[in-house]
Amino acid sequence: MGTEKILVIGSCGQLGTELVEALRGIYGDSNVIASDLKKSDNPVFEAGPFETLDILDEKSFREIVEKYKPTHVYHLAALLSATAEKMPEFAWKLNMDGLFHVLNAARDMGVIKRVYWPSSIAAFGPNTPRYNTPQFGSMDPTTVYGISKLSGELYAQYYYNRWGVDTRSLRYPGLIGYKSAPGGGTTDYAVSIYHDALQTKTHECFLKEGTVLPMLYMPDALKATLDIMHAPSEQVKIRSSYNLAGMSFGPEEIAAAIQNHIPDFKITYNVDYRQQIAESWPAVIDDSSAREDWGWKPDYDLDKMTADMLANLKNSY
Ligand code: NAD
Ligand code: SER
Repeated sequence: MGTEKILVIGSCGQLGTELVEALRGIYGDSNVIASDLKKSDNPVFEAGPFETLDILDEKSFREIVEKYKPTHVYHLAALLSATAEKMPEFAWKLNMDGLFHVLNAARDMGVIKRVYWPSSIAAFGPNTPRYNTPQFGSMDPTTVYGISKLSGELYAQYYYNRWGVDTRSLRYPGLIGYKSAPGGGTTDYAVSIYHDALQTKTHECFLKEGTVLPMLYMPDALKATLDIMHAPSEQVKIRSSYNLAGMSFGPEEIAAAIQNHIPDFKITYNVDYRQQIAESWPAVIDDSSAREDWGWKPDYDLDKMTADMLANLKNSY
């Protein structure tokens, strides 16, 4: 793929671990620079360059940009919804200053040609229609994470309009995968439920029965991320962030899908503060703009994802 050099910031998390592997498959190991606060022991990170980087340290970040001259930056470092509520001031600082450091470097340094930065369903709020949530409409997030995502979307769009920074973004639903652990979100139960199903055949859920949320299987998330980054500029018509949907379900529905494979699996409920966060988010997303503009279409529904998750996780237990 051309002469691109890729820098991934926050690469050792749930998404980054898989994204680095996918990007190295496309661009070659030495052309994808992974970076994070510290290197994780996942073998993915042995295959190519890794830099220790705190994105809040702008000087060190710019030195890395000078050193590798990345043409594409994927900026993934953030505090997710549940963790952010425990330290709201720091979450705001990390989520916003980190983004500004990336956007300003892209504007000022003449090296970075394209920036990917994910938003989230958390950018919506209680006055957003929960079903068939439109691309444009009322957005009144109630979490510091959601406020930072909505603000980030508007700034990404502003840098594109004002300075021509080629920003691209997706509003991810809850991401589910078997290769890496989630990092403190409200949707994390939908990952741990599979591990629990295989280990103890029981899962205690922190969300109530009937709490429907949008979710996306990791192979679809990777496909969408790479597709929007590879799309010709004129196809990326929305520069704030695109709605993106895969599937929607509540805890009892994912439990039933697991019971098709493990009939004696049981779910119980012990609801905590994350219920309130979940209730402020959409249930079913309308992603027709992504479908129309750059051809988005997910491959996985709940049953297909469940079969794949369980088949792959079985190997680790
Ligand atoms: P994660 O918490 O698993 O990973 C984040 C990574 O960022 C971690 O490896 C962490 O060490 C790193 N990091 C934290 N502070 C840093 C700093 N100061 N400098 C450099 N690195 C730092 O998160 P994730 O699930 O991989 O999410 C990646 C992105 O996708 C985030 O922006 C998140 O908001 C967004 N997103 C994720 C989901 C999801 O369900 N996982 C849903 C919507 C949006
Ligand atoms: N999965 C994420 C979270 O729960 C949504 O951005 O925080």
